[in-house]
Amino acid sequence: MSDDIKKGLMGVIVDETSISKVMPEINSLTYRGYAAQDLCANCNFEEVAYLILNKELPNKKQLLKFVKQERNERKLSKTLLNVIKEMPKKSHPMDVARTAVSVMGLEDKETTDNSPDANLRKTMRIFAKTPVALAAFYRLRKGKKIISPKKNLSFAENFFYMCFGKVPQKDIVKAFDVSLILYAEHSFNVSTFTARTITSSLSDIHGAITGAIASLKGPLHGGANEEVMHMMNKIKRPENALKWINNALENKSVVMGFGHRVYKSGDSRVPTMREYFGKVAKIKKDKKFEKIYDIVEKVMIDRKNIHPNVDYPTGPTYHLMGFDTDFFTPIFVISRIIGWSAHIIEQHATNKLIRPLAAYNGSHYRKVSQIKDR
Ligand SMILES: CC(C)(COP(=O)(O)OP(=O)(O)OC[C@H]1O[C@@H](n2cnc3c(N)ncnc32)[C@H](O)[C@@H]1OP(=O)(O)O)[C@@H](O)C(=O)NCCC(=O)NCCS
Repeated sequence: MSDDIKKGLMGVIVDETSISKVMPEINSLTYRGYAAQDLCANCNFEEVAYLILNKELPNKKQLLKFVKQERNERKLSKTLLNVIKEMPKKSHPMDVARTAVSVMGLEDKETTDNSPDANLRKTMRIFAKTPVALAAFYRLRKGKKIISPKKNLSFAENFFYMCFGKVPQKDIVKAFDVSLILYAEHSFNVSTFTARTITSSLSDIHGAITGAIASLKGPLHGGANEEVMHMMNKIKRPENALKWINNALENKSVVMGFGHRVYKSGDSRVPTMREYFGKVAKIKKDKKFEKIYDIVEKVMIDRKNIHPNVDYPTGPTYHLMGFDTDFFTPIFVISRIIGWSAHIIEQHATNKLIRPLAAYNGSHYRKVSQIKDR
């Protein structure tokens, strides 16, 4: 293959962005210049969502308005609820999320208005309704009654409430909130680039987010947090972990939750999420997954110098919180809607159609023969 071909666009800078950056001087992911871990320590998810969308942290009044808007948009239409009720119970919830956003696009009065203000309004609707749609499916497939959202609950609390019928203790909600902050945005990853590519033809935000969800589903991207849990379930007990991981490496298997296209010496989001994983494990009095976590991580670093990415600690954290494994990536979705939307708005503001070239390696020119001669 020619050196001119940048397979996977590796190392290629395709555009500018002011939304997020991994800053080498502090070795950290930053949103609008703020380190993600500082945001986790000092803000809730709604404040960070406001920052990513509006470029500045909100003051009290601005936050109140933002929170109110989100809470007022939570209700689903009858049509969307009926679509969810008709979905096969075996559907992957990522496909449910993708379909739900697509249906929202059919219903939204502003679907074709790509102005920044309309896009912000549509973002609020998608942001508020997607968790409600997912939670409704979560309940329905277990044969349980749907729980309507509550306006007096935060974004994180409300998701627990709609799934489980109650809000867990403060520290669990905080751990979930932190995971949402860490998942909210990560520059030109594959799903965001998908969203920007769709947007570049001047298509709409519902289409772009629908495509981004499909992209996030893959195990090399968001789907990794589910794969981490499958791996931990296969390992079963800490005593099995060393043998399991050594075997996996002998067999040249890809170990999910490790490695990253951008971070080569450790994902800056991991220490924060690892800390909250520990807190949740302590509350749940279940140290098994932490032990497995540490053994696998040590071998991956010692033998391969490959570090964990954020999906490694989020997987077992969500499991301990009580979520079904196939809901881990949908939780990523309800947070990343914010990052995708900011990128869609940025793409519209400075748009250039994304249309790369390919080196052709197919047949030479051929003449078409009549069907009777073939
Ligand atoms: C994320 C990922 C796709 C990045 O891939 P990339 O930048 O294209 O890097 P490569 O896949 O080319 O990896 C480089 C080398 O490290 C190895 N490697 C990378 N991640 C690995 C992993 N998770 N397990 C085992 N080996 C891994 C590759 O096999 C390759 O080895 P080689 O040079 O001997 O062939 C890759 O690390 C991966 O598949 N990780 C697992 C899935 C995951 O956790 N995704 C979530 C990302 S946030």
